[in-house]
Amino acid sequence: MTPLLEVRGLRHTYPDGTQALQGINLAVPRGARLALLGENGSGKSTLLHILGGLLKASGGDYLYDGEKVSHGKRELDRLFRRVGLVFQDPDVQLFAPTVFQEVSFGPKNFGGKGVSLASAVEEAMTAAGIEHLRDKPPHFLSYGQKKRVALAAVLALDTETVLFDEPLAWVDLRGRDMVLSAMEELHRRGRTLVISSHNPEFAFGWADRVAVMKDGRVILDGETREVFGNREILAEAGIDEPFRCRLARELDLPRVPEDQETLVLMLKTKLGRRTT
Ligand SMILES: Nc1ncnc2c1ncn2[C@@H]1O[C@H](COP(=O)(O)OP(=O)(O)OP(=O)(O)O)[C@@H](O)[C@H]1O
Ligand SMILES: [Mg+2]
Repeated sequence: MTPLLEVRGLRHTYPDGTQALQGINLAVPRGARLALLGENGSGKSTLLHILGGLLKASGGDYLYDGEKVSHGKRELDRLFRRVGLVFQDPDVQLFAPTVFQEVSFGPKNFGGKGVSLASAVEEAMTAAGIEHLRDKPPHFLSYGQKKRVALAAVLALDTETVLFDEPLAWVDLRGRDMVLSAMEELHRRGRTLVISSHNPEFAFGWADRVAVMKDGRVILDGETREVFGNREILAEAGIDEPFRCRLARELDLPRVPEDQETLVLMLKTKLGRRTT
């Protein structure tokens, strides 16, 4: 099956000469939950900006749904209707005078009107927990609140692919739950999700595929468990082994536990304790 997003030999050099991407090959199947992991400066945001159509790569190809993405106005407009990007830094994304206008802007721009526009905006604001901020100017909000507004603005677009650059950075615990449930709902609706993260524990639990980046290259990608089984590459990329993987390895558990409950059961069994 044709991957929904695919890059081949993708390169990007910024005007100051920084070679941010140095030949990336990556394919993302429709409906995937892909996490990009890598140290600061490894190229995650650059890649996401190219996938979102906001940055034109200096070389290589980007294919969306089997078609080469070009940067003509009409082609980009088509891409923007299918791919949404939540920026790492909301200060770059937000511009409207009020939160409500910010969240309405995208769907309105794509021709949304009347009841369907209003319900898309309300639904997105509720999912991000920002209904009470609707009349506030985004630049007066706290950083975590801005992250939520940036998320709502993209949720309201209801694109088939959603790219999240560091969705969990700066949000509090409740915000984290909201972001996670918004992502869960998108996955349930069959959307394709690509995120960047610095949190291997989270990536292990959430992603079905992981791509490990280092110095502008993808040095390993594949199914999550397979990738996290390669400790050498993780170490090379400066990524910690998730604690449950380490526990399963060191204690010789039959597999890496799926969640905390399973972990407790497995440990009890290992210790010869009753499991009820
Ligand atoms: N506008 C720019 N001009 C010049 N260099 C840039 C620009 N944006 C990013 N870079 C450089 O490109 C490289 C990749 O940066 P990028 O922001 O993609 O990394 P990242 O993996 O997202 O990092 P982080 O984890 O810190 O968000 C870095 O060396 C960075 O300094
Ligand atoms: Mg980044």
